[in-house]
Amino acid sequence: MNNAASTRPVRPVQEVAQAPDWQPQSWQELPALQQATYPDSAALNAALAKLANLPPLVTSWEILSLREQIAEAQEGRRFVLQGGDCAESFDEVCSPLITNRLKVLLQMSLALVHGLEMPVVRIGRFAGQYAKPRSSDNETRDGVTLPSYRGDLVNSIEFTEAGRIPDPERLLKAHYYSAMTMNFVRSLVDGGFADVHHTEYWDLSWVEHSPLASEFHRLTESLGQSLRFMETITGRDVGSLRRVDFFTSHEALHLHYEQAQTRQVPRQWGWFNLGTHFPWIGMRTADLDGAHVEYFRGIRNPVGIKVGPGISREWLTGLLEKLNPAREPGRMVLIHRMGESHIEEKLPRLIRAVQDTGSPVLWISDPMHGNTESTGSGIKTRRFGKVLREMELAFEIHRDCNSRLGGVHLELTGENVTECTGGARDLSDEDLTRDYKSTVDPRLNYEQSLELAMLIVSKHKHNVA
Ligand code: PEP
Ligand code: CO
Repeated sequence: MNNAASTRPVRPVQEVAQAPDWQPQSWQELPALQQATYPDSAALNAALAKLANLPPLVTSWEILSLREQIAEAQEGRRFVLQGGDCAESFDEVCSPLITNRLKVLLQMSLALVHGLEMPVVRIGRFAGQYAKPRSSDNETRDGVTLPSYRGDLVNSIEFTEAGRIPDPERLLKAHYYSAMTMNFVRSLVDGGFADVHHTEYWDLSWVEHSPLASEFHRLTESLGQSLRFMETITGRDVGSLRRVDFFTSHEALHLHYEQAQTRQVPRQWGWFNLGTHFPWIGMRTADLDGAHVEYFRGIRNPVGIKVGPGISREWLTGLLEKLNPAREPGRMVLIHRMGESHIEEKLPRLIRAVQDTGSPVLWISDPMHGNTESTGSGIKTRRFGKVLREMELAFEIHRDCNSRLGGVHLELTGENVTECTGGARDLSDEDLTRDYKSTVDPRLNYEQSLELAMLIVSKHKHNVA
């Protein structure tokens, strides 16, 4: 999304022509799940018309550069780190939160680059992650029933009648807030954002509490040394080497919003979603004959699909056939989110089914969404041990199937919230009430995120040793 992405020549990814019979609005003929019902359709249309004329958030060449990098990851030459909030909120578009989220992602990526010895593709779950699928259309509290909160893109978290009515103005606000987020992220990355690269500025006080403390110390020490070495040979600080790519992603759930961002550009064929580099299809809307799959069929962005335990082999291979009929490299990313108790039973058959098609995919692991549970007192949480276990199993299962896990997808924040239990500091159920901020799913905090990155590296080192 910056410098490197825009200056490096883009190796043409082999592609075929535009999907036939497809238009940005052709999804409207099919059943669309998880959409908001707006009471005033004239106001909705006015907001969408305005949105369709605003400058886009990303460019076609950045999208094609990401496709190229995903194609390389499919060949085992890159690793993908995708992470950010479950849901962004308008109130949290502010400097410290954006800076800290970027900081933890960059620091994790440096640990991964160093430990896995390959380039890492950084993809934020931000600048557009404003729409949420819900298990029910309505929510009832104390006998009062109102529409469910569907993310800041649609309505307010506030449980009032006025707050829960879908408001089309929010579509424009989401675009403005995404643009502000992107603008700040691009400036931080372009400007060097130097201190995050220096391990002496990392907050590593948690390391002492980990059973792997000495291994983690060795890792940060050797990472620090190699960064200093880079600086010595180039004569510049690593932060100003202007070589950091950063891409954005969100669940493309609200199809009117996505359609308004879907554009044609000069000197390129076909259509691009210019609201994000990497949109994904959520688990609840991946129906083969549904509107979401139809929408994704016609855009040239790389496409993510969440693959849950309920998906069959036929369904998954049907999605590949529909979304990538020409088997183009760099197009498909399968994000499995099985849960640590299901992954061993469910994943191997799916890996083999995809292998049998010969269609190129990048598999990445989301160890968060299959491991959500409620504590005795009803707080939604995730246990760090289970998240880690699913991640480890994912690496092993792919290896045993002669496949490759090429990335991770995490819900995280750069703050020290207490939403997931466990980790080096062994947060307990009681700790959850101390600093629980998420309005949707529980996120790994700063320390747990860095710890997970280091554990991936540690696991990798032991596997190759
Ligand atoms: C999410 O990523 O926040 C989400 C809703 O995931 P899934 O579609 O995998 O449940
Ligand atoms: Co989530």
